[in-house]
Amino acid sequence: MTMHAGRVVMASPDHYEVCYAINPWMKPEQWGADRDGPARAKAQWQALAGLLGEAGLTVEVVPAVPGLPDLVFPANAAVVLDGRVLLARFRYPQRQGEERWFRDFFEGLGARGLVAAVESLPDGVFQEGAGDCLWDASRQLFWAAHGPRSTADSPGHIRRVFGQTVVDLELVTARFYHLDTCFCVLSGGEVLYFPPALSARAQEAVIAHVPAELRLVATADEAEAFSLNAINIGRDLIMTAPPPRLRAVLEERGYRCRPVDLSSFVLSGGASYCMTLRLDRFSHASRRVAAE
Ligand code: ARG
Repeated sequence: MTMHAGRVVMASPDHYEVCYAINPWMKPEQWGADRDGPARAKAQWQALAGLLGEAGLTVEVVPAVPGLPDLVFPANAAVVLDGRVLLARFRYPQRQGEERWFRDFFEGLGARGLVAAVESLPDGVFQEGAGDCLWDASRQLFWAAHGPRSTADSPGHIRRVFGQTVVDLELVTARFYHLDTCFCVLSGGEVLYFPPALSARAQEAVIAHVPAELRLVATADEAEAFSLNAINIGRDLIMTAPPPRLRAVLEERGYRCRPVDLSSFVLSGGASYCMTLRLDRFSHASRRVAAE
């Protein structure tokens, strides 16, 4: 099987809208009051896809499905590492209809040799994909959250399926309901995060794994602007409306912010990271096996 590097999933915004509220950011009235909403969302989506293309990534697009507006956030579809796909199970009925479309999509990738295995979680376990499970390439581990969406038993299943170290973090607020809203792993080993979104125990776990000089603490304003829901490619960070203080902190460390306005998607509680899903994450262990 050929493993293709530099590949990312996005999902078409053609049926995107904000018509229900399953997190505190979702504003159906505000969406409904703006006639230009759909056109603006499509233009913003195209701008993000354009930046990914410029960064050299191939974008695989999941077709839109009427009645499933949040399908546009494929980070929630699965956890992917070493060509292995662990399909998500959504907490809310509003999103559960997405599961079969994502399964078909990943099976299609399997038929094309782009992923090696597609697996499911047992009934009763909720896990919302890479939105609640971030791969840390520097430390060779997953940061996996449970809380408003993913259940407390989900990190154990991730450990079993991928055979990697999993650090379990509990999310304790409704506003930062997915780990990717309050936690961002950077290529230089830094972790940019908003500690009040995590339980005391989870904050201790971060401190235990990440030395002080690599812990970048975001302010509430920065987290609320969805700045942590960013895509890091090498030294580039694709981020909606980067706030000036944060931008300066990142630039001082050698990162470049690539701003992209994703305000239409922030109205649903998401931004660049969760509008994408990387297919090209590989552990050191899998690279060793491939080389043998
Ligand atoms: N409206 C979507 C939901 O509440 C937004 C998901 C954004 N995804 C994320 N990983 N932050 O499920």
